[in-house]
Amino acid sequence: MAMRLENVVPFGRSLDEYQKMFSLTKSELKSKIIGVADGPASFNAELRALGGEVISIDPIYEFGADEIEERFNAVIDNIIAQVENTPNDWVWSYHGSSDGLRENRMKATQVFTDDYRVNRQSSSYVQGALPSLPFADDQFELGLCSHFLFLYTDHYSYEFHEQSVLEMLRVAKEVRIFPLLTLMREYSPYIEPLLSVLIDSGYSVDVREVEYELQKGGNQMLVIKRASARYH
Ligand SMILES: C[S@@+](CC[C@H](N)C(=O)[O-])C[C@H]1O[C@@H](n2cnc3c(N)ncnc32)[C@H](O)[C@@H]1O
Repeated sequence: MAMRLENVVPFGRSLDEYQKMFSLTKSELKSKIIGVADGPASFNAELRALGGEVISIDPIYEFGADEIEERFNAVIDNIIAQVENTPNDWVWSYHGSSDGLRENRMKATQVFTDDYRVNRQSSSYVQGALPSLPFADDQFELGLCSHFLFLYTDHYSYEFHEQSVLEMLRVAKEVRIFPLLTLMREYSPYIEPLLSVLIDSGYSVDVREVEYELQKGGNQMLVIKRASARYH
C-alpha cells in the first residue's frame, strides 16, 4: 500500500541521540548497521561522514527531500504545542526545553535533507517497510529501530511487531529497540509476550536502562541477540 505523507510525523533524531538511546560504543559504531524506520534522522548522514557503514530503510524514502521538509514544517508547531500542553510527560535533561527540542529537530532535519538530496539514490537510503526487509540473512551486525516499534502499539498489531522483530533478527545479529513506551507513555503490552517467544526461540533478551530520556519513564532499550553474536 502506498504511504501517505500526511500520516507521518517526520521527526528525526541525531547521531548523538542514537548513541545515547542505544548506548552505542565507538566499536559498535564501526560495525555494519541497519537503521530501520530511520526516516528523517540525521544519524545516517552524520555516521557516514565519520566513516561509518550504515544503511537506513524507511517507507518515507518514496518522497523527495522537499516533500519531507514541507511535511516537517507543516507539523512542527503543532507537535511542540502538544508537548508544551503536557508538561508532566517530558524530561528535559537532554533538550533543555521545548525550544531546545524544536531546535534539535530542525537541525537533524536539515542535516538529513542536505545529505538525502545528494545521496537519495545511493545504497545508504533504501525505501522499504517492516515487516519485510530486502536484505540477506546476517547482512548486518547491528539493527536499530528508534521510535517506531512499540511506540506505535496502538497502530500496529502484536503480529506485526513479532514478524518485524524476527525479520530484523534475520538480517542483523543483534537488534536494539528504543523506546519501550507507547505514545501514551505506557510500557507496551507487546513486550512481555514477545520476550517469551524470543526466549523460546533461543535468543537472549535484555531490557537495559540508557542515558537518554525524553518521554518521562522512556529510558529503556530492548537488546536481542543470538547466542553467538560477537563484535570484533
Ligand atoms: C517517529 S519517526 C522515527 C524516525 C527515526 N527512527 C528517529 O528516531 O529519529 C517513525 C518512522 O517510522 C517510519 N515507518 C512507518 N511505517 C513503517 C514501516 N512499516 N516500516 C518501517 N518504518 C516505518 C516512518 O516513515 C517514520 O520515518
